[in-house]
Parts: sequence; C-alpha cells; structure tokens
Amino acid sequence: MDARGDRSGHPLWGGRFEGVLAGEMEALNRSLQVDWRLWRHDIEGSRAWARGLRRAGIISPDEATLIDEGLVAVARTLENLAGPEDLPDEDIHSVVERLLTETIGPTGGKLHTGRSRNDQVATDFRLWGKEAIHALRGDLAGMVGVIAAKARESTGIVMPGYTHLQQAQPVPAAHWLLSRAWPLVRDLEHLRAVLGECDVLPLGSGALAGCPFDVDRKALAADLGFSRVTENSMDGVSDRDWAARLVFGAAMTGIHLSQLAEDLVLFSTAEFGFVRLGDGFTTGSSLMPQKRNPDVAELTRGKSGRLLGNLTGILTVLKGLPAGYNRDLQEDKEVVFDSVDTLAMVLPAMSGALDSMTLVRARIGEALRAEMFATDLADHLVRRGVPFRESHHLAGALVRVAESSGRELSELTLEEMRAVHTDFGPEVFEIFDPAASVQSRAVRGGTSAEAVGQQLRALERALAQA
Ligand code: ARG
Repeated sequence: MDARGDRSGHPLWGGRFEGVLAGEMEALNRSLQVDWRLWRHDIEGSRAWARGLRRAGIISPDEATLIDEGLVAVARTLENLAGPEDLPDEDIHSVVERLLTETIGPTGGKLHTGRSRNDQVATDFRLWGKEAIHALRGDLAGMVGVIAAKARESTGIVMPGYTHLQQAQPVPAAHWLLSRAWPLVRDLEHLRAVLGECDVLPLGSGALAGCPFDVDRKALAADLGFSRVTENSMDGVSDRDWAARLVFGAAMTGIHLSQLAEDLVLFSTAEFGFVRLGDGFTTGSSLMPQKRNPDVAELTRGKSGRLLGNLTGILTVLKGLPAGYNRDLQEDKEVVFDSVDTLAMVLPAMSGALDSMTLVRARIGEALRAEMFATDLADHLVRRGVPFRESHHLAGALVRVAESSGRELSELTLEEMRAVHTDFGPEVFEIFDPAASVQSRAVRGGTSAEAVGQQLRALERALAQA
C-alpha cells in the first residue's frame, strides 16, 4: 500500500465544495504533525466503532470483518512509516480513513457512518490520555521511591533547617528530603482524579447532536476500556477539562521539581557543599577547569517555565468557546503532548540525579550554628514554668550577648545565662546537641527518629495506594 495520496480535493468533506483548499490555508489547517502520535488510538477507536456498527446492524458481519482487517493492514503500514512528513492528509483521522479505503475499496467509506471527527478526536485523545497518565504516574512514583530510599539511607544526619533561607532549627536530612516527596504524592493523587475524568467515552456523540443509529455506547465504552460514557453529546465533543487538569497537574509537578532543583543548586554550591551530585548529572566548563555545574537541576527548574506556559496556553484556548465543537480545539493537543513529554524527560533525570546524590555529612555538620538552638533554649525555660513570650525574649537577649562578644550561643557560661534568668540549670548545655534537638520534637509530622520513621511508613503506604 502506498501511504502517499492525492492532494487535490478533500476526501472527507469535498462534496459541497467546488474549489480546493487555498495553499495559504494548508499549513494552518493541518494538524497531522501533532496528532500523528494518535494513530494507534485512531485505529483502536475505529475498530471498536466498526464493531459497534455491526452490532447495531448498520454494516454486515462481512463488511465489519473487511473493515477490521483493513484497519489492521493500515496499522501495519503506519507502523513502518518514520513519521507523517510524506503524507498529504490534514490529520490522522483522514490518514486512516484514506488508507482504509485504498486498501479495501468503497466499503471503507462505511466506517464513518454516524461518526464525526469531532467525537473521534475526542475519543482518540482520551485513549492516549489514559496511557499517558499511567506512564506519568509511574515516573512520579519512581521518583518518590528514590527520595524515600535516600531518606532511609540518611538517618543520623542532622542539617540546618531554613526559613527565609536563614538557619532556623535543626532537622534530620531525611525530613528535608521527605518534605520534597509529599508534594509529589499529592501530584499522584491529582493525576488519579484526572484519570477518572479522562475515563469517559465521547464516541457516539457525532458532530454534536449524537448518533442516529442504534449504537450501544455502553458496550462501545466497555470495548474500549472506558468506565463511563459522556452524558451530553455537545459537551462530549468539546469537553477538554481532563486535558486542562492534566496540564495543570504537570505544571504543579514542574513547580515541585523546580523547588527541589533549587535546593540542589543551592546545596551543591561551595558555600553550602551539603550535597554532591553524581558525575553523570553534572557538567564541567569549557573554560573553568574546576567547575561542576548542577545542570540537571537548572534544566529542571527551567523546564517548569514551559509547563506553566502550557497551562496558560490550554486555558486560553478553552476560554470563550461557544457551545459544541470549535476548530480552536485542535490547539489542545500540542500543549498536552509537550507537558507530558517534558515530564517524561525531566522525572527520570531528576530521579537519577537524586539517586546519584551523596549527602556530605561533614559539611552539613559544620554548618550547624549554635544560634539554631535559641528556640530550644527558650523551651528549656518553658519546661521550668516560664511563659514562652518571656522565655523567647530571654533567649533573644542571650543571642545578643553571644553575638556582641563574638561567641556562639553554646559558648556562654552558666553564670551569663543565670544573669538573664535564675532558672537556667547546668543541664541547659545538653540542648546544644543537634540530635537531642530533633529528637525533642516527637509530635506526628515532627523530627524525632520515631516521627520520621512513622512518616516514612505513611509515605510508603500512600505510594502503595497510588
Ligand atoms: N484535527 C481536528 C482536531 O484536532 C479533528 C477534528 C476536526 N473536526 C472538524 N470539524 N474539522 O480537532
């Protein structure tokens, strides 16, 4: 079968036209370079539609068999094509139908009975969407798994925790890592909801007003693996909410990855030196021999920009559309494909980078400043009955004493502390132990070894559920 066809006229809607499509209109009209990737779904949907027409008695069993075998042959032809470049057709639906008719003759023209490209493209897109969401969720779950493994490996490492990027309170490194895993678990949950929304069959909606033949849409849905059918044919052909929510989910994941990337960029600087990424995920400089750049993280941070742009893109396409199918909807696919492709590239790279990452225990330990225990100092007095507002003030006064004398908070003498409040006892010096500090915060979601262990188990449960 020759995949190339005749460019003159238009096989799908030529009847009422005398002229051919203007040359200047062709590129704008054509979506094949984008929707090419839907060809398997178009074949799958078409085969199911032919079975539906047969069950409805619109085509004979022999015709149905002929069409089905023809579609299988078309699939073989398309499989052998490198891409759509040489095809003359407007979109993937036109390609499949043309090749079908070229293969089996005029019976091929019966396939489109009761169907429109409007319900067809909506169906193909959702068939693709369900696969894409499954794959994306797999990549996300993989990354959560990598973070959890790193967290498990890092027990015993206590690092500075930051607010306003200022040292705030010590936290286990595992706690920091897991703080970057939970957002991705939420992304997984979001995608599960999107999957449910995508899992609805529009086929049988026709161009906008439904199908005049008695095609059993429930059976069609079961045939194609959809859980439900759309309830309104006009909504069925124009609803792209699931796609917008998928692009939103991708943008949100992009933001989560970008935030994690920023941590990695910062923590791998000479100034911090908390983490070291594997050679496979860093690059050198052509000019400066010492450079070790965290490109994986920077590229990830950069890619979040296009993920956000795609969200603006799809919402803007949908905004203000009148009821029913509008050709603007052809613009829905490129941004969705791009968001999914981008994450399919970024997630494995970031997972690999995290897997390759070592936490530099010595540098992390050196970075812990005694000022971070000022809150523990205040809490020490609280345990002796001093109201927190007062103890906060007193601990602040001690920070000032240390600062003005060029010493760490832990280097003050007991006398200096007692000068501020008589309730300070010699055991106060025990609070300057990072391990004790994190261990003291044992609430659910806190930093003690038990709390972090509980958190890890909760994450593993959430992952298993997802
Ligand atoms: N390429 C079109 C799209 O992606 C297919 C539907 C065309 N429908 C039409 N009435 N021209 O939306």
